[in-house]
Amino acid sequence: MDTVLEEKRSLLLEKRTQADLGGGAARIEKQHSQGKYTARERIERLIDPGTFIEFDKFVTHRCKDFGMEKTEYLGDGVVTGIAEINGQKVALYSQDFTCWGGALGEYHAKKICKIMDFALANRIPVIGMNDSGGARIQEGVDALGGYAEIFYRNVKCSGVIPQISLIMGPCAGGAVYSPAITDFIFMVDKSSYMFVTGPDVIKTVTHEEVTKEELGGAKTHNETSGVAQFISQDEDECFERVRELLSYLPAACYTKPSPKYTADPVNRDNTKLKELVPANPKKPYDMNEIILDIVDDSHFLEVHKGWAKNIIVGFASIGGIKIGIVANQPQVLAGVLDIDSSCKAARFIRFCDSFDIPILTLVDVPGFLPGTVQEYGGIIKHGSKLLYAYADATVPMITLITRKAYGGAYDVMASKHIRSDVNLAYPTGEIAVMGADGAVNIVFRNELKGLEGKAYDDKKAELVKNYEDRFANPYRAAERGYVDSVILPEETRARIYEYLVVLKNKVVDNPKRKHGNIQL
Ligand code: COA
Repeated sequence: MDTVLEEKRSLLLEKRTQADLGGGAARIEKQHSQGKYTARERIERLIDPGTFIEFDKFVTHRCKDFGMEKTEYLGDGVVTGIAEINGQKVALYSQDFTCWGGALGEYHAKKICKIMDFALANRIPVIGMNDSGGARIQEGVDALGGYAEIFYRNVKCSGVIPQISLIMGPCAGGAVYSPAITDFIFMVDKSSYMFVTGPDVIKTVTHEEVTKEELGGAKTHNETSGVAQFISQDEDECFERVRELLSYLPAACYTKPSPKYTADPVNRDNTKLKELVPANPKKPYDMNEIILDIVDDSHFLEVHKGWAKNIIVGFASIGGIKIGIVANQPQVLAGVLDIDSSCKAARFIRFCDSFDIPILTLVDVPGFLPGTVQEYGGIIKHGSKLLYAYADATVPMITLITRKAYGGAYDVMASKHIRSDVNLAYPTGEIAVMGADGAVNIVFRNELKGLEGKAYDDKKAELVKNYEDRFANPYRAAERGYVDSVILPEETRARIYEYLVVLKNKVVDNPKRKHGNIQL
């Protein structure tokens, strides 16, 4: 080969090797010693093997302050590109902690922005792997501006392409707001944390003492704040979950999710469900058992599993049709709606509606949680988010009342009145303003006044029985057509599948407007 040509080729190869080394062998070693992969290793472990095509491998910063002119890492501390996951194209960025602690500078941000623009223009999901000490201090406002450019793109991409954030190390200060806008946040237990202000600042300002882990670790955000939707024990488990999540999502809005392969027969009976819902409305049962029995292969990817456990949300498929499931959980707080469960379900419904994923709602709800904590906390505005999300959704919606559907919560939980397409109930369904006991105390106050002891108990029991006979069933609602069909539990899977098929081409024309004003 011509020597000049050979030199040019080897220069490129040298530069590639240099870029691949990031901040150097010692820092890579440090990363490994903390149980963390490097930015490149993370990409390789997440994607389908051999599909990564890198962008901007040789980009460097142009900062001349604080000695920065003496340190240059090819790629500027972030690896970006496109790849495939489950055979589907995705765009990725992965911050490299070995270069200035993954701190975000002007050109680091430009690379992220470029890959986001590429993802948006080509309608493919974007996945960000965050491991960074925040804004690159030496670059000042250029770094801050870089963050804002990313936030702006996160907002523009919202509802157009799925955005997924993996927190694999520190994510603090302004850095948290990019993941916050994305659709799903994955965190790794004990090695990732997110907070707006760290423990030291908190100690100075409020005198509170709190560790990094307590303040913003994976458990905190998965169980207490609800900021993150997924927690993994290690990075490999996290990648596995991300791949699983992506298997339910389309590449972009207005692109229907492709069918999911299953050999599970759609018409199999749900025999197990015949006696699952107890006749006694006060007895709890596990709504997960219904979900697992009706979906394909008992496979349910639960989202936000550790937070607001009185409502369950997640993805599954029935007869290969991918769906989002929202379900009250009678086992936790009797399945009542409160601030956190309303917010959790509302956000999930908005996601499904953005990406054409039909919604199945399983209802067993005794109402909204009473008390000053809820009222002062704004249950009125937060509860309305759930109502709004359902009423605004245009995807196919199927609702099944398994037992209680009381009061305002009946309306909110995808009732016919807010335009669910198909509303079903089990024979155990009870659709009423409230439970029998409470109703009798209010409606028959005068009849019960003055009665004591056995006389009171007998009269009360008679009135409760009378109320239950009239209202503790699904037939009043079925008479009015608010319930389309009362079904036997063993018929659930087959029926839901039939409805999903028929609703496939549902079209709804919402009034033209700039955008609705959902409570925030
Ligand atoms: N800007 C520039 N460089 C940064 C940085 C930042 N925001 N954050 C970390 N770095 C550099 C460190 O100087 C260090 O450089 P070196 O390898 O050349 O010594 C490298 O990244 C690794 O940081 P180090 O502190 O050794 O790692 P750690 O694991 O002990 O701690 C952090 C990580 C993120 C907790 C710590 O670096 C930190 O507090 N950073 C500042 C966070 C911050 O206030 N950011 C600005 C506002 S968002």
